[in-house]
Amino acid sequence: MKRLFIKTYGCQMNEYDSARMADALAPLGYAPAETPEGADMVILNTCHIREKAAEKVFSELGRLRAEKRRREAAGEGMVIAVAGCVAQAEGAEILRRAPFVDIVLGPQTYHRLPEMVARATRAADPDRRGLVDTDFPVESKFDHLPAANASGIGAFLTVQEGCDRFCTFCVVPYTRGAEASRPAADVIAEARRLVGQGVREITLLGQNVNAYHGAAPHRVGGGPAEWGLGRLVRALAEIEGLSRLRYMTSHPRDMDEALIAAHRDEPKLMPFLHLPVQSGSDRMLEAMNRRHGAADYRRLVDRLRAARSDLALSSDFIVGFPGETDADFEATLALVAEVGFASAFSFKYSPRPGTPAALLERQVPEAAKDARLARLQALLREQQQGFNAAMLGRRLPVLFDRPGRYEGQLVGRSPYLQPVHVAAPDALIGQVAMVEIRDLKTNSLGGALVAGAAATASQQERLSA
Ligand code: SAH
Ligand code: SF4
Ligand code: F3S
Repeated sequence: MKRLFIKTYGCQMNEYDSARMADALAPLGYAPAETPEGADMVILNTCHIREKAAEKVFSELGRLRAEKRRREAAGEGMVIAVAGCVAQAEGAEILRRAPFVDIVLGPQTYHRLPEMVARATRAADPDRRGLVDTDFPVESKFDHLPAANASGIGAFLTVQEGCDRFCTFCVVPYTRGAEASRPAADVIAEARRLVGQGVREITLLGQNVNAYHGAAPHRVGGGPAEWGLGRLVRALAEIEGLSRLRYMTSHPRDMDEALIAAHRDEPKLMPFLHLPVQSGSDRMLEAMNRRHGAADYRRLVDRLRAARSDLALSSDFIVGFPGETDADFEATLALVAEVGFASAFSFKYSPRPGTPAALLERQVPEAAKDARLARLQALLREQQQGFNAAMLGRRLPVLFDRPGRYEGQLVGRSPYLQPVHVAAPDALIGQVAMVEIRDLKTNSLGGALVAGAAATASQQERLSA
């Protein structure tokens, strides 16, 4: 048995891909390892979204070189592969700065990995150049990778990849390529398999997931050739045994009526939506090429809340985009105050090579970015704490997914992804039960099972609505 260590950076899509790569290498005799020490193969699945994320890869490679030397001194080999978005964006640079890397492959070519590993381990010459995926033909990776295997109660399922939106700050359209959706039938088949393996909650993934437009499963009597995300969600919700559905990440402009209606009609679709707005200033939104204004976002939130009154929102924000003034930043604070977010991620703008915004004049000084980020995060933290505190005394459906730290305790997730600790029997793992929230911890909630809580999942999810 050979040992495979994968380190994953960046978004959930990379997590999904890492699991697929592990599955693809299993037939070659690779089993997962917890650390790079003593591993026969190490894959860094990288992220290029901000400068810090990309730089981490080179420092990790420095550490791996030492480990590879140790292994080689002991007469053992170690294959190092760099995958993901840095590999796509800076493949040549990686081989130049780190010539001991054996394999460089971008996110669209993971199905080539077994072949590349076989070639890398066959090659006897230790000075041979690294293998790069551009030496291999381009095909859809999903047609060749093994289907996802479940290892828990929750699972990710990639339904679309790439992005055609070209926000001016973002590398994703360059690293993940053009927007492409998987056929609905493939997604449904994978979801059924996952549920058959014990999965109860599926999060549909895509860089711009609500732009999903997959081929319809079967066209009888002139039905639509393609399905949008709303239609897909409805089909997936019919899978018996599946309790919960989520999706991320969405673009406000791609939130259509069918998807909003799915939030209204489909109790399995959780009332928690990650809907990044980035800024509350129309000027900045325009410069970012987001193609909507702050008022459009407010209206969209109103429509979503009208469809599902208990819907909570999270978002991403960028502060210090080129040309951002104090007034622009105040507009962001005003939007946050008005909308109210259950949680959020916020970042200082990081100029990325090859993106239009990196070339703009009037880059914001680092000190101003720091100050704005601190103010925004203080407000977002306050909102998050308020949101969690509002759960006290409420009854929430909790999907239990693992044992807790103490004997007789389980941990589950609320509809809003808050971890909830409850005294409950192991038999409830994989089930939804009603929990009365009784205490508030820093990053989680505590509660007690409501007597007679073992109703069906959908009944319980409805109770929370
Ligand atoms: N596809 C998603 C998210 C893409 S990346 C979307 O459309 O929202 C996740 C987040 O990283 C973005 O929402 C944005 O807030 C942030 N981000 C992307 N590029 C960035 C950059 N150059 N500097 C700082 N933050 C960035
Ligand atoms: Fe990047 Fe998201 Fe914009 Fe696409 S929609 S360019 S992934 S921020
Ligand atoms: Fe990062 Fe690529 Fe995801 S840049 S955020 S790993 S799409």
